[in-house]
Amino acid sequence: MASNIGLSLSDTASETTATGPRSPSSTLYSSDDDAATVATPEVWNADESVLVTGGAGFVGSHVAEHLLRRGEKVLVIDELNAYYDVSKKQANVRLLEQLGGRNFRFFKGDICDKTFLAEVEKSCKFPKRVVHLAARAGVRPSIDDPFVYVHSNVEGTTRLLELAGQAHGNDAKFVFASSSSVYGGSKKQLFSETDAVDAPVSPYAATKKACELLAYTYHHLYGMHVAGLRFFTVFGPRGRPDMAPLKFVDKVSRGVPIDRYGDGSSSRDYTYIDDVVDGVIRALDTPLGYQIYNLGNGRPTRLNDFIRLVEQHSGKQALINVMPEQPGDVPRTCADISKARELLGYDPKTPFSEGIAKLVTWYNESERA
Ligand SMILES: NC(=O)c1ccc[n+]([C@@H]2O[C@H](COP(=O)([O-])OP(=O)(O)OC[C@H]3O[C@@H](n4cnc5c(N)ncnc54)[C@H](O)[C@@H]3O)[C@@H](O)[C@H]2O)c1
Repeated sequence: MASNIGLSLSDTASETTATGPRSPSSTLYSSDDDAATVATPEVWNADESVLVTGGAGFVGSHVAEHLLRRGEKVLVIDELNAYYDVSKKQANVRLLEQLGGRNFRFFKGDICDKTFLAEVEKSCKFPKRVVHLAARAGVRPSIDDPFVYVHSNVEGTTRLLELAGQAHGNDAKFVFASSSSVYGGSKKQLFSETDAVDAPVSPYAATKKACELLAYTYHHLYGMHVAGLRFFTVFGPRGRPDMAPLKFVDKVSRGVPIDRYGDGSSSRDYTYIDDVVDGVIRALDTPLGYQIYNLGNGRPTRLNDFIRLVEQHSGKQALINVMPEQPGDVPRTCADISKARELLGYDPKTPFSEGIAKLVTWYNESERA
């Protein structure tokens, strides 16, 4: 039981509001607290592990799982905030703990908290390889409370870039999540990394653009390798309950009405989780100075077609509440993925219909469990 120092899935009861406030001051829980019964863990050096921030979340838990399966040591930092049901994040950590054993370490805390990060360093030197996925995600809640977004996304990313640059200079390999939302209300048919993205339409999008700029600065200052990944609506098993794919599957399956914003003609480029993980790992393994990549599917789906697919795979008819368009929503997203294809060999394999079928299968299995 000595392997997973820092693991604590306890006491998140104070974080209960709907949009999830910034977590209270982070606490390092350590099984070392019981020094009489737990041996001091070996210190992991900077070469041997990968730091995955936000590893208790949707994309992060899949990335950590992939890294553990290929034999890596994985250090996860996550504050387990209550943006959505904390028990889902706790379940993700348990899964990684079971899979990784001694190759997995989890620390609960805020990536902005210097004291907490210094505590982590006592047993895990700041890794040369970082997959930084911790963030406040979600467009609409960022309009209600932009400050938690600036905290986790801008301050948090700066803190990690600073640590990586200071510790490892041009040896650092830093991959982080940006977002397709930086393209704002672009009317272009295909969103390309060379497009100007100076008009974000939500605080969330603005924080992601800010992260891209700061990442460039740290690349410039320290020569570190940095890849910013613009994800296009990721979905799949263990998905975020606030996002349409899992929300629709859940509600349609239970006969609960879904809210459809607008007339259903808007379209999005949905990307299946396995394809995104593949892109993240390729970016980590292919350090190329400073790069921004679109990680999408390249084939958008109209909202009405999406709802029909959910009906087809769940075997239930959707009950639809028609709602007005929401501020901050973008009418169409479609990734130009030619750069990631060319430089990383990224090649998304999962058509949307197949991804929804897999999501429904997982949903039905997890409901039965
Ligand atoms: N899922 C998508 O479709 C999508 C699309 C575009 C971009 N992204 C980005 O990808 C990344 C992962 O998204 P996700 O969908 O897995 O979200 P998620 O909410 O499931 O995971 C994010 C995790 O980060 C943690 N976190 C947040 N602030 C933190 C802080 N200050 N300190 C420590 N941990 C903190 C949360 O507790 C959570 O577990 C995010 O950066 C998000 O902005 C996701």
